[in-house]
Amino acid sequence: MTLLKEPDHGTPASSSVQMVCVEVDGVAVTVPAGTSVMRAAAEAGLSVPKLCATDSLQAFGSCRLCLVEIDGRKGTPASCTTPVEPGMVVHTQTPRVERLRRNIMELYISDHPLDCLTCPANGDCELQDMAGVVGLREVRYGFAGENHLDAPTDSSNPYFDFDESKCIACSRCVRACDEIQGTLALTIVGRGFESKVSAGGTNFMDSECVSCGACVQACPTATLSEKSVIELGIPTRSVLTTCAYCGVGCSFKAELRGDELVRMVPHKDGGANEGHSCVKGRFAWGYATHPDRVMAPMVRDAITDPWREVSWEQAIDYAAQRLREIQNTHGVDSIGGITSSRCTNEEVFAVQKMIRAAFGNNNVDTCARVCHSPTGYGLKQTFGTSAGTQDFKSVAEADVIVVIGANPTDAHPVFASRMKKRLRAGARLIVIDPRRIDLVRSPHIEAEHHLQLLPGTNVAVVNAMAHTIVDEGLVDIEFVTKRCDAELYREWEEFIRRPENSPEATEQFSGVPAAEIRSAARIYAAGPNSAIYYGLGVTEHSQGSTMVMAMANLAMATGSIGREGVGINPLRGQNNVQGSCDMGSFPHEFSGYRHVSDSVVREQFESLWGATLQSEPGLRIPNMFDAAVSGEFKALFVQGEDIAQSDPNTRHVLAALESLELLIVQDLFLNETAKYAHVFLPGTSFLEKDGTFTNAERRINRVRPVMKTKIGKQEWEVACDLSTALGYPMHYDTAAQIMDEIATLTPTFAGVTFALLDEVGSVQWPCNADNPLGTPVMYVDSFARGDGAFQLTPYVPTDERSTRRYPLLLTTGRILSQYNVGAQTRRTPNVIWHGEDLLDIHESDAEMRGITDGSWVTLASRVGETALRAHITDRVPPGVVYTTFHYPVSGANVVTTDNSDWATNCPEYKVTAVEVTPNLHGPERAAADRADAEATVNG
Ligand code: SF4
Ligand code: SF4
Ligand code: SF4
Ligand code: FES
Repeated sequence: MTLLKEPDHGTPASSSVQMVCVEVDGVAVTVPAGTSVMRAAAEAGLSVPKLCATDSLQAFGSCRLCLVEIDGRKGTPASCTTPVEPGMVVHTQTPRVERLRRNIMELYISDHPLDCLTCPANGDCELQDMAGVVGLREVRYGFAGENHLDAPTDSSNPYFDFDESKCIACSRCVRACDEIQGTLALTIVGRGFESKVSAGGTNFMDSECVSCGACVQACPTATLSEKSVIELGIPTRSVLTTCAYCGVGCSFKAELRGDELVRMVPHKDGGANEGHSCVKGRFAWGYATHPDRVMAPMVRDAITDPWREVSWEQAIDYAAQRLREIQNTHGVDSIGGITSSRCTNEEVFAVQKMIRAAFGNNNVDTCARVCHSPTGYGLKQTFGTSAGTQDFKSVAEADVIVVIGANPTDAHPVFASRMKKRLRAGARLIVIDPRRIDLVRSPHIEAEHHLQLLPGTNVAVVNAMAHTIVDEGLVDIEFVTKRCDAELYREWEEFIRRPENSPEATEQFSGVPAAEIRSAARIYAAGPNSAIYYGLGVTEHSQGSTMVMAMANLAMATGSIGREGVGINPLRGQNNVQGSCDMGSFPHEFSGYRHVSDSVVREQFESLWGATLQSEPGLRIPNMFDAAVSGEFKALFVQGEDIAQSDPNTRHVLAALESLELLIVQDLFLNETAKYAHVFLPGTSFLEKDGTFTNAERRINRVRPVMKTKIGKQEWEVACDLSTALGYPMHYDTAAQIMDEIATLTPTFAGVTFALLDEVGSVQWPCNADNPLGTPVMYVDSFARGDGAFQLTPYVPTDERSTRRYPLLLTTGRILSQYNVGAQTRRTPNVIWHGEDLLDIHESDAEMRGITDGSWVTLASRVGETALRAHITDRVPPGVVYTTFHYPVSGANVVTTDNSDWATNCPEYKVTAVEVTPNLHGPERAAADRADAEATVNG
């Protein structure tokens, strides 16, 4: 592919439905009212010179290069800031405007270094292009611009430089940071020739900058340039693909020079991101070629043996032979596998097929078990489908936004930018979270209510909101009557009216004043468009599924479902967590969430696959661990997941892994889990994969190989090889063939093909004969299950409560620069922002324990302890502490328990009773403690 250059129409498109006819340079063009003259010219195929305008930003009108003449108007207005009017006749190339443009360009060039030939942006610089376009031949004012030419370069950011000497003060960077990213880190200080961009602090690193790169992308000169471009040169070709970090699923142009990846540029037509990105997707891809990657398969008979590098054939034969031996000795159900939410749909589908057809059992589960399995359960019970209801774009229509148990600015940054844009435009915000997340108060945004509840009381607070809505007659009776099951509603109404669900009763144990709950409920009910966005702070609880249903009840009771601007929106953690669930990774469901006991569905699979499939659900991940410890479960295949680090109660997980006779790990790196493995199979990075990811809005995006696979094959081929070696032949020529099989077997994917995705970019399932281009908003006319089903959601306090011995409640989360267990981001310069996991603790809790900021503390729960450094902050209330789990050494999951959601076994990561004490031994003590724990487990 050549380098994809997206057209720039100069100013954003107008959404007006009213059309206006104008004439530009003799060409008649019809555009929506509100369109700029510049954009109308672009629509007519004409190009007006410009510097400060670009179509991702509102017009600013500072450079004056885009002057035009308009019949009947005096002067030469800027075309970027002048809207079209009916019958307008515009001239963009008159001698007068051409002369003026040359004069303007002369002024710019007089204060610009003339080092074009050696400049990193040579060939990709709009200033250089425009100098040519306006026909600049001489610079009468000389080149001795006093104010900028000697300005120093700010190289503080690990990914981009700011070379102030090249800045033309067009303010595109400032506006990108304001309008697109919403961080407002940059300003223009000074006037005229003294104007310059300031990052607030002394440099970019010391500023509010979150390194999203929007300013770099917007800069028309080499002032803001990626270090990789400076080092490697301007890219010459690009491949469209999808970010492999979070569930936002941003589309990128991977831009290469030869075979070398130079930069990732967010794709303007990407449905999820519309040209924006965060620091991870844009910059943190270096892990893909990190020297730690393992490229050759390895085996060993015992985990105390050294690894032996072997060929792929030897590794596959070894694994297959040992799997069969184990099944012959311990039975067909003694083995199983875990699929990865980081892998493509096609890779996940191949692995679950291998387990069901070649292993011959349903012992397949996915890492979604430990994050969003309650979403699947709760939304299926209430609405009939296990997925979020909206597309991301929908947030632009929301009047009230409720964020529950999610921290979008850190965990889903690009969606957070879209949400912040809507909030700055006036939508009302309610945050329900134990922590004061950034959204509660950020530039031009202030939550109307922050319901700072105690961890574990989500259900009570949302029930109390529903109680208020019923109690105060705020139910949307028309919606409920038309769209919901009447009997279930009656039962629910009777339940929710009970005094124990009132805000006044709830206040006693949730810590949220009743008046605040009532007020938040009124705002949500008033809408008119109210949308709920939630994350793992909802699902990772003993009542995770109950909470999802409680939110769905709230949406149905207020009619906040079935159109743009409303809905129940899970913010999915990993890039393909939606897809891994869709693909049939759960032990009880085939792809498309059909139960394995459904004989009609099962026969379809059996007939196409030529295999007899079990009709009983298999083991979930925690059941596999328990069965391993008790000696019934003997072998496990783990696709791209570090369960030793990511799953709760590390001691129990390690005991399970250590009990296995055979552990097969497929991954990029020798991770913590691989310490217990007998077979290690190398994996592919997203830059090598060919397939699809499905993001949090059910959007199926193509992942295209940017470089050749470094292991000689695609990951789905490994599953095929292992399956074939086990006696169940499995073969595909391409990933597209796997998608064809998925479409054949999965009604919601029936219309999906690689050809369609290549043609239209992406589609949101359901995509089938009824919805050939997908379904951005679900349940417009009816729910998937027919009538919406209100569910009773009694609040049951978790067993995990603070006690005298463990008086604090620990909750966990993510930070912007790091991702999950950090396997990828720790292998990039992102470590500069977060080099270790810290324990957030309130000043009063710290003071009473003699803990100072930055000092080492021991964090202990009833299942284990670890050491971290304390960070004293008022983001957490007294009684609550918080940490991340990005570093193996901090071992946050050593302390989390195996309490889990009653319906899905999703672990209760978000509530652990702990004590925090000063630790005078620091990390040495922590390392020794971990070694002790591992030694205990290893016997
Ligand atoms: S990188 Fe992003 S956050 Fe930082 S200054 Fe640029 S636009 Fe703002
Ligand atoms: S840094 Fe780039 S985008 Fe920002 S004002 Fe200077 S030239 Fe314009
Ligand atoms: S928001 Fe998520 S998908 Fe988008 S670039 Fe960042 S990590 Fe990647
Ligand atoms: S492009 Fe119109 S004023 Fe700069």
